Amino acid sequence: MKIALLSRAPNCYSSKHIVAAGVKAGHEMIVLDYLRCRMDIAAGDPAVFYMGERVQVDAVIPRIAASYTFYGAAVVRQFEMGGVLTANSALGISQSRDKLRCHQLLARKGVDMPVTGFAHNIHDIDMLLDSVGGTPVILKLLEGSQGKGVVLAETRKSAESIIAAFSKLDANFLVQEYIEEAGGSDIRALVIGKTVVGAMIRTAAAGEFRANLHQGGSAQVLKLTNEEKKLALHATQSVKLKVAGVDLIRSSRGPLVLEVNSSPGLEGIEAATGKDIASRLITFLEKQKAMKKGSKITRTPNLV
Ligand SMILES: Nc1ncnc2c1ncn2[C@@H]1O[C@H](COP(=O)(O)OP(=O)(O)OP(=O)(O)O)[C@@H](O)[C@H]1O
Ligand SMILES: [Mg+2]
Repeated sequence: MKIALLSRAPNCYSSKHIVAAGVKAGHEMIVLDYLRCRMDIAAGDPAVFYMGERVQVDAVIPRIAASYTFYGAAVVRQFEMGGVLTANSALGISQSRDKLRCHQLLARKGVDMPVTGFAHNIHDIDMLLDSVGGTPVILKLLEGSQGKGVVLAETRKSAESIIAAFSKLDANFLVQEYIEEAGGSDIRALVIGKTVVGAMIRTAAAGEFRANLHQGGSAQVLKLTNEEKKLALHATQSVKLKVAGVDLIRSSRGPLVLEVNSSPGLEGIEAATGKDIASRLITFLEKQKAMKKGSKITRTPNLV
């Protein structure tokens, strides 16, 4: 197959490993910066151009950065409309990126999550806090990542001042039940198709409740329970993704979903599990392609 990795970071660990895995499996791999893709919106012939040339590929692997979801998802959609196989659909990428929409969809599909409330500019802070069981409470900026916009408010007074500050900044945020019993740990489950191909537990540094590796957390391989596996698969399918990094947290009432990521990083999970996840992704695409066509896979000679 000829496979395009849609990424703005060709030299990052995940990109390099996916390209290497594809080449090893005998495919022709190219990396395209999706922001430099041009689309021709012509009836009956949806085309994508890169550096003036029409892109002709069998499959795409989207790795769209959060800040470019709108355009990146449009490029993926254009490939889909042209009949190109994609590791994740444009719909799945957009749905999982919008945290509010993602929570709404997961809730509708019956996926267990911490009790969560969304707000923008709120006057009745007391009511909002009561709706998630009061303090201690987690407050998250919707635009945050790597743990940066996540705050634990232990008292009502501190929760009120943080909410007032978020409102003043005109920021979208969510208020969430604090899962204290997780003890500063969360789980990343890597889903490809109908399988959880690897999982790790991330543990926060001493004195920290956020398990993000960027906040000093550490990761170790983890064997998930059947319930956790089922939940990760259910969450992935609920937002119409095929490849996802599902973040779970262990609570006293069972595992809960924190988030579903459409472009999960491979470095941490490959290091923790010792598995070649990139190759699993390529094998998954090969199977999807074979199913789609009802034909056998074409392998081109290695092109480095
Ligand atoms: N409701 C909660 N109860 C206890 N701990 C939580 C809760 N929500 C988040 N945490 C901790 O804070 C960390 C960061 O939260 P979260 O993953 O929601 O935000 P983020 O990492 O900044 O966003 P993203 O995952 O989109 O990059 C989690 O990994 C987890 O350890
Ligand atoms: Mg996170």
